[in-house]
Amino acid sequence: MAIPVILDCDPGTDDAIALLLALASPELSVLAVTVAGGNVGLVHTLPNALALTALAGSEVPVHAGADRPLLGAFVSETGVHGEDGLGGVVLPRGGTAAPGLAADVIRGILRDSAEPVTLIGIGPATNLALALATEPALAARVRQIVLMSGAWAEGNVTPAAEFNAWSDPEALAILLASGRPVVFTTLELTAQALATPARLAAWRRLGNGRSLNAACDIQATVSPSRRLGGIGAPLHDPCAVAWLIRPDLFTARDCAVRMDLGPGPSRGRTVIDRWGRTGDPVNAKVLETVDADGLFALLGERLTLLP
Ligand code: BDR
Ligand code: CA
Repeated sequence: MAIPVILDCDPGTDDAIALLLALASPELSVLAVTVAGGNVGLVHTLPNALALTALAGSEVPVHAGADRPLLGAFVSETGVHGEDGLGGVVLPRGGTAAPGLAADVIRGILRDSAEPVTLIGIGPATNLALALATEPALAARVRQIVLMSGAWAEGNVTPAAEFNAWSDPEALAILLASGRPVVFTTLELTAQALATPARLAAWRRLGNGRSLNAACDIQATVSPSRRLGGIGAPLHDPCAVAWLIRPDLFTARDCAVRMDLGPGPSRGRTVIDRWGRTGDPVNAKVLETVDADGLFALLGERLTLLP
C-alpha cells in the first residue's frame, strides 16, 4: 500500500528533485503539493511546482500557500537557487494552481482521508503549521511529519540555524508541539548526500528523459558547498522523501528537539538533544547517516521512470 503524503515545498533546486522523486515513487501516493515562499518568493515557487508536476506528467493538485512566515518576512536564498528558484533552468510552463489555499487544503485532506496522512515539509514549515494550528485536533489524522529542517551543530544561513528552520521557527515549534512524530533530515545528514560531478555524470548516463535532464540541469547550477569543502552540493530535500521510500538507507535516533525562538543570533536553531541531557520528552526522530551511493542510485532509478 502506498503511503499517502502531502508534499509541502518551496522549489527550489533541491525541492525540484525531491518533488520528482516523490512523483516517480510507487511507495508514495502524493495527494497534494502545497507551496510556500522561502527559497524565493511564491511568485516563482508556485509556477516552478506547477512546471515540475507537468514535466513529470503528474496531475497532482498544486496549491498556493504562504508567502510570508508567521512572523516577519521570508528572505530569499538566491545565491543557491538563483533569482527564479531553479538556477535559471527554464522549464515548459505548467498548468494553473488548484483552488484552495495550502492550509485549508491540508486540513481538508486530513479530515477526509481514510487513513492517517504523512506530511512532508521541505521548505519553511508555515503551511503545515497554519493547518495544524487552526484545527489542532486534526493532528490525530497525521501519521508523521517528515522534514528537511534543522541542524544539531552548525547552520547554513546563520552560524546557528538551518535555512528552513530559520525561515519560520515559530511554525516549526508548532509542529514540534503537535504531538505527532517529527522526523528531522538535518544539515549533518544532508552533508553526506553530496551531488558531486561524478554522481551527476552517472545520472546523465542513465538516459535522456526530460525529467532526468531537468534534474541534472537544475542540480548542475548549484555551486559546491564551501562549508563542505567544495566537493559537491548537498542534496537536502530529496533525503527527506527518500527516507520514506528506503528507510533502510538511513540510521536514525530518537531525540528531544526544541526551537530557539529568541531574537538573538541563535534564532531558528534546532536544539537537538542527541544524548538525552535535558530529560525532555522525545518528540522527534533525527536521521543521522545515509548511504549516499544508495541514495543517488535510487534517485537515478526513479528519475528515469518519469517522462
Ligand atoms: C534547505 O533550505 C533550502 O534552501 C533548500 O531547498 C532546503 O530545503 C536546506 O537548508
Ligand atoms: Ca526546500
